[in-house]
Order: sequence, then C-alpha cells, then structure tokens
Amino acid sequence: MNRPAFVLWFTGLSGAGKSTLAEAVARELERRGVNHEVLDGDVVRENLSKGLSFSKDDRDINVRRIGWVARTLARHGCIAICAAISPYRAIRDEIRAASDAFVEVYIQVTLDVAEGRDVKGLYARARAGEIPNFTGIDDPYEEPLTPEIVCSTADQTVEQSAAHVIAECVRLGHLS
Ligand SMILES: Nc1ncnc2c1ncn2[C@@H]1O[C@H](COP(=O)(O)OP(=O)(O)OP(=O)(O)O)[C@@H](O)[C@H]1O
Ligand SMILES: [Mg+2]
Repeated sequence: MNRPAFVLWFTGLSGAGKSTLAEAVARELERRGVNHEVLDGDVVRENLSKGLSFSKDDRDINVRRIGWVARTLARHGCIAICAAISPYRAIRDEIRAASDAFVEVYIQVTLDVAEGRDVKGLYARARAGEIPNFTGIDDPYEEPLTPEIVCSTADQTVEQSAAHVIAECVRLGHLS
C-alpha cells in the first residue's frame, strides 16, 4: 500500500547523532525500496545555505530553507529526512504547521555526552572561545515539548536507535 510521504525531522545538540541516524534510517528505507532523501545540516550549509552565519537570524533562515525543501519533497512522495540542530522550537513548529505530515525526532543526549563525543572537535574549540554562538555552550537549544519520537542515543547502539525510529514511524502509520 502506498502511503503519503512525510517530513522526518531530527533535532538535537551537535554530536547527538542526527547525521548518523539519518543515514542509518535512510539505509533501511533504501532496503525497503521507499523513496527518500537526506537533508543534512552540514551539507545544506555548504550548498543551499552557503555563507550563512550562526546568528539567530541566519540559523532561522537555514532551518526554514530546509523545511521548505523537505515539505516540497514530501509533497512529491519522497520521505524527507532532515538532520540539523534546529535549536529553536518556534521555527520547528512553524515548519510542522506548514507541512502536510511532520514527525519530530528528538535526539536526546546530555551536553556532557555530546561534548564527550566531540566528533568534530567543535566543543573544544567553542570552550576555548574560538567558535561563538555554539549551541549548548553560549547559544540556546530548546528541546521539543511533544516530539513524536525520542531517541536517547547515549544508551543505544546506532542500529537500536534506527530500528526505534522505523518502528515508531510504522506505529504512527507513516510506514508499513
Ligand atoms: N545510538 C546512536 N545513534 C547515533 N549516533 C550514535 C549512537 N551511539 C553513538 N553514536 C555516535 O555519536 C556520534 C554522533 O555524531 P553525529 O555526527 O551523527 O552527530 P550530529 O547530531 O549529526 O552532530 P552535528 O549537529 O554536529 O552535525 C557518532 O560518532 C556516532 O557513532
Ligand atoms: Mg550532523
């Protein structure tokens, strides 16, 4: 049975696991033959949003652009998997309201865990004062109040988290 596509929106701190999970979920959708695309924050900032800063205004523009592309893809039958920090609740909610179907996945880790991973070495640079406006350090992260899905990646393997996201999408009626 064909189901309408939807926006699968990962949000969370840097290092929470958004990109890793987006790719793992994409691999599973590929395996199932389900049309999908990943919009990763880092990639978007190298292309569609090249030149934007990390000020609140530019972050909002970046996230709105991702939202616009995502809901356009979804309207054409493509599950749009978005993986950007998207720290502001109001902008995420705006994108939700503008989308036909929106599933918010909160990738939940403590700042300690994310900073301990420091995958890109950015937390160390932010602590050293080399990167201003770093989410969780000197810039806010507003966690979702009622996300459809929560993934606590500190106590799960990537495979477990990806399986959880897929299972919840099925339970919510977005995937068969
Ligand atoms: N259950 C899990 N799910 C996802 N990632 C996990 C999990 N457990 C451990 N990790 C690790 O956590 C790290 C997450 O890094 P990743 O680049 O995906 O974060 P991110 O949220 O995309 O950060 P950024 O916002 O900076 O792009 C990876 O090294 C990944 O292997
Ligand atoms: Mg990432």
